[in-house]
Parts: sequence; structure tokens; C-alpha cells
Amino acid sequence: MTFALKDATAVNDVRPSSTTRTAHVTLNKVTRSFKKAGSKEMFQALGPIDLTLNKGEFFSVVGPSGCGKSTLMDVLSGLAKPSSGQVMFEGKVISGVPDGVGVVFQEDASFPWLNVRDNIAFGLRRSGVDGPEVQRRVDYALGFMGLKDFAAAYPAQLSGGMRQRVCIARTLVMQPRLILLDEPFGALDQQTRLLMGDELLRLWRETSATVLLITHALDEAAMLSDRVGVMSSRPGLFIDMVETGWERDRDSRVVSTPRFGEINARLWEKLRVETMKVMGGQH
Ligand SMILES: Nc1ncnc2c1ncn2[C@@H]1O[C@H](COP(=O)(O)OP(=O)(O)OP(=O)(O)O)[C@@H](O)[C@H]1O
Ligand SMILES: [Mg+2]
Repeated sequence: MTFALKDATAVNDVRPSSTTRTAHVTLNKVTRSFKKAGSKEMFQALGPIDLTLNKGEFFSVVGPSGCGKSTLMDVLSGLAKPSSGQVMFEGKVISGVPDGVGVVFQEDASFPWLNVRDNIAFGLRRSGVDGPEVQRRVDYALGFMGLKDFAAAYPAQLSGGMRQRVCIARTLVMQPRLILLDEPFGALDQQTRLLMGDELLRLWRETSATVLLITHALDEAAMLSDRVGVMSSRPGLFIDMVETGWERDRDSRVVSTPRFGEINARLWEKLRVETMKVMGGQH
């Protein structure tokens, strides 16, 4: 397999992904504010954000801790309302989690009272998918998530990384058209992360879903994405957009290409400054 670049100069461009140009999700001047702890004052955690995710695009977000990444995901998924601005999904302003959107949360959200199989089957059963189809999809998910031998185990009997895989499987079996993942591989070791990234890429290729991945791992963002958005320290704004130029048919072997190094360096250059602001308390 080769990893020919669509456009060798794209790393320096700020422009939308070239995979397709049909808008799937649009954020229009979106902000979110919260009350300051112990005070009546508000502070702005996010935005204003203008962003378009193209249909079938793999978009990643990197940014310093506390910059508003999870907040961005909350408004994108419809779980939280923006304080101002609008989120559109498939041409409609969203309110509540729309059909076709799947979310994998940063924290472990597996159901402790259900075993692995029932955790993964939960959403399918709730939406009335018939028994044999549930069985088929869950078996497939158990296989690609490496959980076959643990189908009968309960979350408390699993490692943190395994629990997170259950949560990923539970979302993916629903075959969402928009998949939102908040640091889904955070609890996994480096090798497993790379392989899970490959699995995610494979699924993305097969389903043509739009993916938004939040990650603190620059290499993960650089390897998986069509486009990577770098967020500033609070209030989170996009300060850079990097088009990777990878072919759709890619996998973790892109890490050995010079371009991967270039992309990583560019991401780190921006993120380093923002992280220093957070660590230095200058925000
Ligand atoms: N429900 C809430 N109430 C009050 N403040 C909140 C709430 N949720 C988030 N915040 C604040 O908003 C800011 C952004 O938080 P958020 O969780 O979005 O950051 P993040 O970029 O996801 O960080 P991390 O990388 O550590 O997960 C933080 O200052 C946080 O304290
Ligand atoms: Mg977060």
C-alpha cells in the first residue's frame, strides 16, 4: 500500500477537507458559558466557533486540558444547548440528541449491572432491532473490539481499557451517521491505541460516517484524520486547521512517512504555546 498525498502543500493550508464538500454538521457562532464556582459570574468556556464537518469526513480536535473540547462535544451531540449560536445536523437545528448521532464519552459510561454482551446490545434492543440482527451486530462488535472471551463479564471484572472498548462497541453497533468520540482511547496502551485506530478507520471507510474525534494524542490525530483542528486555551477557539492529505484507504503505517512527522510538528508547535498558557495559569 502507498500513502500518496493528495496535495503535498496542504499541511500549510487552512481549508476544509477535500474528501467531500457536502456539509453534514455546521456550527454557527457557537458559544457555551458556565457559572464560575462559588460566584454568580459567568465565564465563557467555548467559542464563538464556526465549523463545518463535511459528510464522511474524519475530523479530530486537539487542545489543552480544560479548553472546551468536551463542551464542544456536548453541544455537537445535542446533550447541551449552546449559550448562543446554532448547531445544524443534516440541515436541521438540533435540540436533544438527534437520530443517527452516536457518542462515546470521555468517562467510562458502561452500565455496571449489564454484562458486556447486554451493554453492547442495549441501544439496539431499545430501538427495536430484532433479536437475530442484534446477535449478529453484537457478535461482530465483540470480535473487532477483542472482547469475545468477555461477553459474559460485567464491567467491574474488566480493565479500564476494556470497559472503554465496550462503550465504543455499544455506540458503533448503532451504525451512527455521525460518530462523536471524546478521548476514546485514553485508557489504552500505545500499541492497542494504534490498532484500535486502525479498526476505527476501517469502520469509517465501510460506513461512510462522519467522525469527530477528540484526543490528547497528537500522533493519533495526525494518523487518523482528514483534518485536525487545534483549539486554543479557554475559551476554546480553533486556531489552526491542518489538512493531512491521507488517502481514504490508510492505516497506522502512515506513522513512518515524513509527512506524518511534518503534521505532528505543526500540531505540536501550536499546542505547545496553548498548553504553556494553561500550565502557567495565564488564562
Ligand atoms: N457543567 C459544567 N459546569 C461548570 N463548568 C464547566 C462544566 N463543564 C465544563 N466546565 C468548564 O468548562 C471548561 C472546559 O471544560 P471541558 O470539559 O470542555 O474541557 P476539555 O477541553 O474537555 O478538557 P480535558 O482535556 O481535560 O478533558 C473548564 O474550565 C471546565 O471547568
Ligand atoms: Mg474533556
